[in-house]
Amino acid sequence: MDTDLRNWFKEVENRGELKTINGAHWNLEVGGITQLNWKKRPNPALLFDNIKDYPPGFRVLTSSTSTFQRIALTYGIPVSDDEQEVVDSFSRSFPGWIADIGKYPPVQVKDGPVMENSFQGKDIDLFKFPTPMWHEDDGGRFIGTGCAVITRSPDSNEINLGTYRIMLHDHRTMGFFSVPGRHGRIHCENYHQKGEKCPIAVSFGHHPLYFRAAAADLPLGAEYNFIGAVAGSPVEVITEEITGLPVPANSEIVIAGWCPPGKLLPEGPFGEYTGYYGGQHPAPVIEVERIYHRNGPVILGSPPGRAPNDSSYFMSLMCSMVIKNYLITAGIPDIKAVWLCEVGGPQLIVISLKQRYAGHAKQAALIASQSPTGTNMGRYVIVVDEDINPRNIDEVLWALAFRSDPEQGIDIIRRARSNSLDPMVQRPITVFHNNVGIIEACKPFERLETFPKEVTLSPALEAKIKHFLS
Ligand SMILES: Cc1cc2nc3c(=O)[nH]c(=O)nc-3n(C[C@H](O)[C@H](O)[C@H](O)COP(=O)(O)O)c2cc1C
Repeated sequence: MDTDLRNWFKEVENRGELKTINGAHWNLEVGGITQLNWKKRPNPALLFDNIKDYPPGFRVLTSSTSTFQRIALTYGIPVSDDEQEVVDSFSRSFPGWIADIGKYPPVQVKDGPVMENSFQGKDIDLFKFPTPMWHEDDGGRFIGTGCAVITRSPDSNEINLGTYRIMLHDHRTMGFFSVPGRHGRIHCENYHQKGEKCPIAVSFGHHPLYFRAAAADLPLGAEYNFIGAVAGSPVEVITEEITGLPVPANSEIVIAGWCPPGKLLPEGPFGEYTGYYGGQHPAPVIEVERIYHRNGPVILGSPPGRAPNDSSYFMSLMCSMVIKNYLITAGIPDIKAVWLCEVGGPQLIVISLKQRYAGHAKQAALIASQSPTGTNMGRYVIVVDEDINPRNIDEVLWALAFRSDPEQGIDIIRRARSNSLDPMVQRPITVFHNNVGIIEACKPFERLETFPKEVTLSPALEAKIKHFLS
């Protein structure tokens, strides 16, 4: 599979799912139109061109993977209009991609499209791209929303790609926000502890697979390999001259520089995926040394906001797979499905399983709640039996109503991991904890055989009578 954004455009256009919007203003219009687009189901990918104050061809792409059809297309799995088919196909493919990570290390190339234009010294101007002001109360223009921040461990050759929001401070300085424990942040802290500045390169436009890999909780340093495993061919990277970091050869825009120790500037507020504005905080900066871009560069934007938003469907799908895989890898048997509903994300995890032993449901819930994906501001984990489809909220609520006992089935994990975006954390505070509710909405294990008989329509009776309604 090809991982060049320009070819992705052609495929999406052929499916009639690409809408070009001319003449929108970078100041709130690009962001506002994108928010309106989220309300449409299904919605097209939006390609903004002829953006106010910018030359034609300097573009912004949003809603790239906000439908299951475009997610299928992006991951090279069969595109279908049947959502369950895509979810199943993604679910079947995911463990194979993870297993194949070792087979696809990136390969070095000397040149690539991203090198078509390069700028340094006094020619550096971060405002040369049509970075949107996404939401009305944002504290600045965020160039990085669907980006991949590339860092290296100072102690090994491990390379990480992470999506962390990036705000423009001035013509050559950007600020970034990464919550404690993010791999890129750990790399940066490790440089700073040695008193050294951290080299950073950021790709701001690319095939959406780069963004989705950077925003997924993959093993440390696995992103390039994961993209290679999904695509079935290794990613081509160029060694960036100043930082020595490997950057995607077919990226639309790469910006490289240094994050110096001890230098912080106010960053935010920013309209976040919680549906609330995150506050303004001192955050590290990137002092830019180089800009590279293709002719007619495209920023890949994925502004957050109250779900459904640009990323919420995808995050449900991906995080569900990651947590399911985590449980299986941890040795938990008979996990049938995991689903994080679109509006709740990792704050609301539902696991369905076939109970094999007493404590099975509790064990699965506790492990999911403390998995890397589940533990970041997690709020509730609900466990249901295998006959309940976690994607069907009515079924989940029915199980909650008739198979749970608040006295026996609810536990609270106190002082778990949260982050500064959590609207429920009281401020002012600098250490972020939250409590996580574990709810067993499954039949008590000791009553599995004796639980009351369920009212159902037998398949034979249904087949016999359904013609009456047709
Ligand atoms: C659209 C989008 C924006 C994100 N922005 C941030 C952010 O600003 N800071 C952050 O720490 N995580 C952010 N994340 C989550 C991380 O990208 C995600 O947890 C990823 O796994 C981090 O990579 P790492 O584990 O390699 O550090 C964002 C995710 C998405 C989908």
